[in-house]
Amino acid sequence: MNPEAESTASTQLPRSPLPRHVAIIMDGNGRWAETRGLPRLEGHREGAKSVRDVVRAARRSGLEALTLYAFSAQNWARPSEEVTGLMELLRDYLIDERPEIIENGIQLRAIGDIDRLPALVRAPLDALSTDSAANSDMVLNLALSYGGRESIAAAAQRLAKRVAAGELDPGDLDVEQFGAEMPTAKLPGLDLLIRTSGEQRISNFLLWEAGYAELYFTEVLWPDFRKEALADALEEYQTRERRFGLTGAQIESGDLAP
Ligand code: FPP
Repeated sequence: MNPEAESTASTQLPRSPLPRHVAIIMDGNGRWAETRGLPRLEGHREGAKSVRDVVRAARRSGLEALTLYAFSAQNWARPSEEVTGLMELLRDYLIDERPEIIENGIQLRAIGDIDRLPALVRAPLDALSTDSAANSDMVLNLALSYGGRESIAAAAQRLAKRVAAGELDPGDLDVEQFGAEMPTAKLPGLDLLIRTSGEQRISNFLLWEAGYAELYFTEVLWPDFRKEALADALEEYQTRERRFGLTGAQIESGDLAP
């Protein structure tokens, strides 16, 4: 697009702000490897390179939070060599990227059934979570042994215990109470959910949090999803009108979204 056309387009289409919180379902590693006649683990290895590139680009773009679906509660049922290989890749990532994460003001967090992770992941994960806890430039939130339904059920259990202990009235269990109990409660609300590899489903990821997120599906396989692909997704997000159940006229008149 020539500069003149670009400036006309930008005066016609007011840009929405950048998303504050982006989440990614990093899909397609297996297919990337299979089409090259490589073992599936090679796809995950190349996918880990995309993680490095996209985290760096997200930090530079000014995102406040990036949540990555690195290992689902259901992924434990994959062949044991693949599970072991993924755990080793996670360990390597946490050890190799530690200096860059710390130096760039990134706070590392994890959501999911962390107790189920092997010590080889738990040790560098706990160390980096602790040592980056005071960082405030961006949160990198890894979903590990994570399931959206499991996360909602666990929140319900904790709330039910508080009701049983007489600390909460059942009538107080509203959307705010549940939201405050979710593991993402301290992050900005989810603005944009990206899924790579052409599949168009949520696969038990951030079910509660995705309530009003914009969804972005791309055919690009995760190992090919690098900073340029993230920029495309952010650009597309900025063309969306988010209405949160209100009318377009209400949004234009400045009524606050819930
Ligand atoms: C889904 O692709 C991807 C995963 C189950 C694992 C994602 C892991 C990584 C990107 C690498 C390690 C992570 C970090 C944070 C360093 P798939 O295997 O289901 O692909 P397919 O649908 O093509 O088989």
